[in-house]
Amino acid sequence: MIPVATSAGEAEYSLRELSVPLDLQRLVPAATDWEVELGFGKGRYLLRRAESRLDCGFLGVEMAGSYYHLAQRRMRRRRLSNIVLVHGEALYLLSVVLPRRFASAVHVYFPDPWPKVRHQKRRLFDTETIDLVLDLLAEGGRLCFATDFLEYGEVVKGILESYPAVEVVEVTGPWADGARTNYEAKYEREGRPILRLEVQRVSGSGVPLHPLGEACVLAAVGFRQEVF
Ligand SMILES: C[S@@+](CC[C@H](N)C(=O)[O-])C[C@H]1O[C@@H](n2cnc3c(N)ncnc32)[C@H](O)[C@@H]1O
Repeated sequence: MIPVATSAGEAEYSLRELSVPLDLQRLVPAATDWEVELGFGKGRYLLRRAESRLDCGFLGVEMAGSYYHLAQRRMRRRRLSNIVLVHGEALYLLSVVLPRRFASAVHVYFPDPWPKVRHQKRRLFDTETIDLVLDLLAEGGRLCFATDFLEYGEVVKGILESYPAVEVVEVTGPWADGARTNYEAKYEREGRPILRLEVQRVSGSGVPLHPLGEACVLAAVGFRQEVF
């Protein structure tokens, strides 16, 4: 069961009760626009942002049950009716559950860097997964990304820069609105360097795929049979 929580009427659904792809407009009918945060942790940024834009719907995805429940309690306490929280694994949800090309912004802050080579296939940003993340964005939408794991940050920057349909800007210094998430606030206090990127999906670019993503795909047949 993948739980989906909204604060409108304090509802919580299992995914089986909802349509797939997820009909977000049914869950927050008043939303005129959507933003997404993947791996929202304790929900500091998602909740603050939702409070500042009540006309906009906010979709948060988080794998850790304790954080999902914490953010759920907080959104209800603040009576925010423009948030949908989904408890599940982001790549699975991006592949089969979430709608495509609907968001004006996607936020990913301090995703797990998975430094060991054998774990790197779990990364949210990889040549084989980048299309899934970027395809949440409507044309003109932007992705905001930050990491303190600079080596991973440089890899993500390189992947994005070789993507045909986006413009990548490295943000120097803190965001204009200050530290966005708990991890960012903590790392700023500790004086750790942080790599921040703002990436815009440019218009008129069709449905491009990352060139290195398709290079990872092979198809094999055991032996040839005459089937026709
Ligand atoms: C290092 S924490 C950062 C939390 C928050 N973004 C912040 O900056 O304070 C990474 C978060 O992403 C979540 N996460 C990691 N991999 C995920 C995945 N594949 N799907 C959904 N959530 C994931 C973790 O549970 C954790 O809450």
